[in-house]
Amino acid sequence: MSRVGASPTAAVSDRVRAAAAQGIAITNLGEGELDFATPAHVVMAGKCAIDRGETKYTAVSGTVSLKEAIRKKFERDNGISFRNAEIIAGNGAKQLIFNAFLATLDDGDEVILPAPYWVSYPDMIRLTGGRPVAVGTTMASGWKLQPETLRSAITPRTRWLVLNSPGNPTGAVYTAAELRALLEVLDGFPDILVLADDIYEPLRYGVPFSTPLQVRPDMRERVLTVNGVSKSHAMTGWRLGYAAGPEWLVRAMDILQSQSTSNPSSISQGAAIAALVEPPVFLEGWLETLAARRAIVMDMVARIPGLRAWRPEGAFYVFIDVREWLAGSGQPLGIVDDVGMAAWLIGSARAALVPGTAFGAPGHLRLAFAIETDTLRATCERIVAACIPV
Ligand SMILES: Cc1ncc(COP(=O)(O)O)c(C=O)c1O
Repeated sequence: MSRVGASPTAAVSDRVRAAAAQGIAITNLGEGELDFATPAHVVMAGKCAIDRGETKYTAVSGTVSLKEAIRKKFERDNGISFRNAEIIAGNGAKQLIFNAFLATLDDGDEVILPAPYWVSYPDMIRLTGGRPVAVGTTMASGWKLQPETLRSAITPRTRWLVLNSPGNPTGAVYTAAELRALLEVLDGFPDILVLADDIYEPLRYGVPFSTPLQVRPDMRERVLTVNGVSKSHAMTGWRLGYAAGPEWLVRAMDILQSQSTSNPSSISQGAAIAALVEPPVFLEGWLETLAARRAIVMDMVARIPGLRAWRPEGAFYVFIDVREWLAGSGQPLGIVDDVGMAAWLIGSARAALVPGTAFGAPGHLRLAFAIETDTLRATCERIVAACIPV
């Protein structure tokens, strides 16, 4: 436990709760969760699973029916064929990523993480004995890892490269050509595995999606593709993720799961089958709503001197560079960093954002626009009013 630090996001949450206890309503722009309801046909499939008596243990890695649905999803959406033995379902993508690291990392093994990264990767890596190696990306390059930067981060201890596209917290979406260029770097290093975290796959604003294995089918012995229904179907609470990759790795993850949590919920498995096989007719409406919200946030950023953001192509976050604001308007207020600014915004704008420090990018704030549109608009107005000096 001494390897992991306290979460910087927890500090913000504590302040939100303290304010709420005093009757002050804070808008939470920190939650990585869609406000939409789980689609009705998926909910119904969960209810039907209960009614059919699917309320018992299943195979640790998921039922055959679920694996069939996952297999078809990969074929239909990504053009990749997997055998059932190469597929595992778990309690969210999170558990699968954790178990993949636990199964493969020896003490001191390194994992390359393009920064800014999802908050959980570094601590998962540390907990399983590994060493996270954060590799910086810049807003100017659309927050995308560059091949030469990747090359220079590789050492004899490198075990994994993590690629998350669409990415949290930046919303960056890699093109097929960009993925190919990165994977080419790994050609000289056959022992390095690739973890493709595709959890935000369908949440894109008009740009195509590619996943590493689709671009480089010859790398199937070293790519683990992780996905799930949490973000694609607003099912965060159902806890259902899945992964597909080399059989030896999937088998190891299965063993870890069998001795810890066993199968993901049988009811969630039933619901996930409907989510994966039925066409996502709701998605167009969701993306329209999300795109409108993205515009509200980008407009807010444009109106505040000293704030800059790259317009995200996917997911539901805007990652805002606040360094100029800190050096200008922040100084007389005594606000020196992103953590201080996030704390200050809770009081001055009743808005909770997550400091970039949590994602390995100090001087930034992450705003999640997965909340109701009018509330988002009103909260953005309060942030503008607070941040622009009178
Ligand atoms: C990049 C990324 N990967 C994985 C997850 C975890 O997803 P799940 O709810 O399926 O565990 C999240 C959730 O926030 C995420 O942002």
